[in-house]
Amino acid sequence: MIRKVCVIGWPIAHSRSPLIHNYWIKLHGIEDAVYERLAVRPEDLNETLRSLGDWGFIGANVTVPHKEAVFAALMRHDAVAARLKAVNTVVTTAQGLEGRNTDGYGFIANLKDRARFWRAADGPAVLVGAGGAARAVAAALETEGAPEIRIVNRTHARAVALAADLKLKAARVFDWDEMGEALAGANLLVNTTTLGMKGERDLDIDLAPLPEAALVTDIVYTPLETGLLKLARVRGNPVVDGLGMLLHQAVPGFEAWFGLRPRVTAELRALVLADMGIFEGN
Ligand code: ATR
Repeated sequence: MIRKVCVIGWPIAHSRSPLIHNYWIKLHGIEDAVYERLAVRPEDLNETLRSLGDWGFIGANVTVPHKEAVFAALMRHDAVAARLKAVNTVVTTAQGLEGRNTDGYGFIANLKDRARFWRAADGPAVLVGAGGAARAVAAALETEGAPEIRIVNRTHARAVALAADLKLKAARVFDWDEMGEALAGANLLVNTTTLGMKGERDLDIDLAPLPEAALVTDIVYTPLETGLLKLARVRGNPVVDGLGMLLHQAVPGFEAWFGLRPRVTAELRALVLADMGIFEGN
């Protein structure tokens, strides 16, 4: 029987998960597996989850807008998904479907891969934004040993809620107009807002108070170099783009479904970039 896995979202046409997983399936010569897109309307989500096994799916990825709803629909979760109350990876276990969340893993793995000198424990992290992506990043940074997580969000109350919901031990909430104080002495700056994405305006902040050694990263990867990353690069900060988070978050799911840990390579990155119409030099 064909082992099927899918990515569930609405809309789903833009998802690059099939490209990533089918690349690994082919690379490893797995002949009985296929990874598909599944467009699922919110009102059809619960029925879809109930039917997944009958349709031949052994697992799934979950994307916008279903991550929280899938968490609520499933009975079993790993510790990270339980903490975030959001699921991006579904695995079939002997006890039934289990919801996991690998977004934070992907975020950290990307930084470790592309900025080998960087250590979360070396100093405060500044998190801009307080949405779903910010939650995954904040929890992962705490687990990784960040001594302080400074949350800056347009809506103050959402930043406070993030820190409280995750029970972050060393969170500090800053108002938007306190960005300068937040950046001072930081070891990492990460944008988790949608600002900088194609079609949106840039996250336009004054980086002057940020130490030049601080790593700057963005979870937006279209464009690959956001306005923030360009600003940071030009003033001399090390920068890591957000594409690697997408690539790395896929690794634990693939391993759980197919029993083999795939690697994020330059070839895979080039494949996804080519799909975005980007051809990077060496
Ligand atoms: P996701 O789950 O992808 O993180 P989200 O939950 O919609 O998406 O969160 C979007 C984030 O981008 C939020 O932090 C949001 O700030 P608010 O909490 O104040 O809404 C931030 N954001 C979006 N547009 C913004 C803008 N124009 N200026 C500042 N922040 C913005």
